[in-house]
Amino acid sequence: MRIHVYERLWLVASMILIVAFIATVTYGTVGLGITMVDDREETLSPGDIDEDERFEDPRIEQVGENEFEAYVVAMTFLFQPDPIEVPANSEVTFYVTSRDVIHSFTVVGTNTNTMVIPGEVSVMTVEFDEPGEYGIICNEYCGVGHHDMEAELIVVE
Ligand code: CUA
Repeated sequence: MRIHVYERLWLVASMILIVAFIATVTYGTVGLGITMVDDREETLSPGDIDEDERFEDPRIEQVGENEFEAYVVAMTFLFQPDPIEVPANSEVTFYVTSRDVIHSFTVVGTNTNTMVIPGEVSVMTVEFDEPGEYGIICNEYCGVGHHDMEAELIVVE
């Protein structure tokens, strides 16, 4: 039986695709270079937030001369703490988790934007050079109060 040359070409192409898909999934799963959210931070049961020393008391902590750590809890339909206050010329590492459903932690006008997933801790470090006020919003639909879910980040002199 003779297979048309184009048909053979498509067969080979689809085989390559299948192998490529499997290779991609394997590569991601084995973790050879793709960072999953939970590869960086241990997970946290949303029910244990009140017993977790990082999140039982949402706060900003000074950890160096110009370095701060912010432990933020998102929930329907607010963020804690609110407002978040940090001095200008500081480097802030945010640790954000959710008490209930998926939210986001988005600082308007900056590139600070992360999904906040219950059971996960999103971590990101941001530098704030100039004093200013930023809105913090949620851009993952999370329920009837989604559009009211907001907080404030104040960079003081
Ligand atoms: Cu929280 Cu939308």
